[in-house]
Amino acid sequence: YRVEFLNYERLDEHGWSLDDEDLFEKAADANLGNADYGEITVEERETLLEAAENAGLAWPFACRGGACSNCAVAVIDGEVPIPTSHVLTQEMIDRGIRLSCITTPVTEDTKVVFNVKHMPAMEDLLL
Ligand code: FES
Repeated sequence: YRVEFLNYERLDEHGWSLDDEDLFEKAADANLGNADYGEITVEERETLLEAAENAGLAWPFACRGGACSNCAVAVIDGEVPIPTSHVLTQEMIDRGIRLSCITTPVTEDTKVVFNVKHMPAMEDLLL
């Protein structure tokens, strides 16, 4: 599956919001580096985090087991299922937050913002 990604820190710097309708268009036009904005392919048996690593990207993580939320991403477009065991609150899940270390998209052309652990609402969850 093809996944377009954007670094939360760049979003924050530019004053963009996760709710911006044209967030990824703005990101595409902003001349961001390859590590901050781009596209990866996720193979069937890979997690989103593994796919990023296999593409040479350094996305944040710690436990790799759904327990710390360092690897959290916000899903802007597409579907990323929720596994049974994880630390996210229902509120986070409702806002599209997923853990990249234990999930993988099931739709083509998914869009995610990684590094959302730097989002103020997430900081309480970090272990
Ligand atoms: Fe800890 Fe994903 S790395 S939840």
